[in-house]
Amino acid sequence: MTNIIIDCDPGHDDAAAILYAAHNLNITAITTVYGNNSLQASTQNALAVLELAKLRIPVFAGEDRPLCGNERLPGDLHGKSGLDGAVLPEPSAAPQPENGIDALIEYSLSDEGCGIIALGPLTNIARAMQLDSSFAGRMKWISLMGGSTTVGNSTAVAEFNIHCDPEAADIVFRSGVPIKMVGLNVTRQVGVGEAEIAALRAMGGTAASVFADLFDFYLERSRSIFGLTHASLHDPCAVVPLVKPELITYRDAHVAIELIGEHTRAMTVCDLRNVRLDNLQTITASRKSNADVAVEVRGSDIVRHVFEAIGAF
Ligand code: BDR
Ligand code: CA
Repeated sequence: MTNIIIDCDPGHDDAAAILYAAHNLNITAITTVYGNNSLQASTQNALAVLELAKLRIPVFAGEDRPLCGNERLPGDLHGKSGLDGAVLPEPSAAPQPENGIDALIEYSLSDEGCGIIALGPLTNIARAMQLDSSFAGRMKWISLMGGSTTVGNSTAVAEFNIHCDPEAADIVFRSGVPIKMVGLNVTRQVGVGEAEIAALRAMGGTAASVFADLFDFYLERSRSIFGLTHASLHDPCAVVPLVKPELITYRDAHVAIELIGEHTRAMTVCDLRNVRLDNLQTITASRKSNADVAVEVRGSDIVRHVFEAIGAF
């Protein structure tokens, strides 16, 4: 069976994605990356979420900064700890001694091969591609939450995970690995508001009540920063292609990462035109597709499935 690795920076929605994935799939390992907070916080939060759910999955810490080497400030959405709003149990497990990049490379060498659910900046994956030139060729797939066909969140056009490390995203999108890009254009439609959080709390159970508290905080931040009446379950959407593929519709398209633009750096430029002729005078042909780009989503069904998973722990 293909090894499935979750690469993440928990984060409220990463935390929900870990439980959603673990409930439905065999997760081989988790690698962590800076992003919503420091690498240390991501790693601690991943271990705490596993402890809460009594899951035994090895956690490997990866990169603490983008490929360019400049540290990034923690994101604004997830609070001081990266997972504010509830007290999670102290992890009884420690991170694995091996580095997350080496772990990714090692799993890719196994007979079963490996696929990655990527929920944070793409730095770990790009670094593995830089260190081992045959890593990409061995990867079966990457299902990632990142980018957008429309608006951004970090900037008007750039989504947070891509904006953290556009150079890494560029490497990943050029790598030739089959990619499912589940971006903001759809993940913003998968939201939990007050009514959903109340329903989650009413489910009872340890994880459900902790997640209801976490989502209260996340909803408040989403409201105060973006004026939203719901908090988006972005990251669980990257698990959906493996669990309930029928809930998301895709278009195959070429996605380029904007690295230069003064106003558009880190934008995912998705060519959804499908222009086949390359001998036109004023219209450039579409380049060969490098990703399945999510364009439609069944939001309330996804929320229901994610809550079912949380309620099971
Ligand atoms: C992404 O950024 C983070 O805040 C979330 O965890 C998600 O991965 C959404 O833009
Ligand atoms: Ca994330």
